[in-house]
Amino acid sequence: MVVEVRYFSRGGNTLRLAEAVAGALDVKPLGVDQPMTGRADVVFLCASVYGGLPDKSVMTFVKQNARDIGRLVVLSTSATGRSTFGRIKAAAEDMGVKVSENFYHCPGAWTLFHKGRPNRDDCERAAAFARAILEREA
Ligand SMILES: Cc1cc2nc3c(=O)[nH]c(=O)nc-3n(C[C@H](O)[C@H](O)[C@H](O)COP(=O)(O)O)c2cc1C
Repeated sequence: MVVEVRYFSRGGNTLRLAEAVAGALDVKPLGVDQPMTGRADVVFLCASVYGGLPDKSVMTFVKQNARDIGRLVVLSTSATGRSTFGRIKAAAEDMGVKVSENFYHCPGAWTLFHKGRPNRDDCERAAAFARAILEREA
């Protein structure tokens, strides 16, 4: 099975999550600014919340690579506890891209909130989540 881990990260929190997931799956995390070069059965998309939304580059990535994405699995962080899952799922499905009902979310440090998050436990949970997805949805 071909698996990719993609991320957008302004401040490094989402990158930390992507690195944990990619490490667990033995692949290299790649930014959403890099085009896909072939089809992937599962794309773990690590995309956090900015002004209530995923960054525009995240949906641009999905749109430009829709034909090559077998299934998207969303992971995110935010200050308030809201995930990007709902927005990404709605937009991706409009583009004909399948999105797993299972998603991962944890707090992400922002200003005075959630210092140090995602922490080691958050990253381990994200890695376990990704492994379980591949076992369950393969
Ligand atoms: C410009 C900006 C806007 C943000 N807007 C929100 C928001 O609307 N809701 C929220 O819960 N968190 C918000 N956050 C917090 C981020 O979701 C959180 O810090 C996340 O972990 C950032 O990931 P990153 O370090 O990979 O960029 C915002 C952060 C930034 C930098």
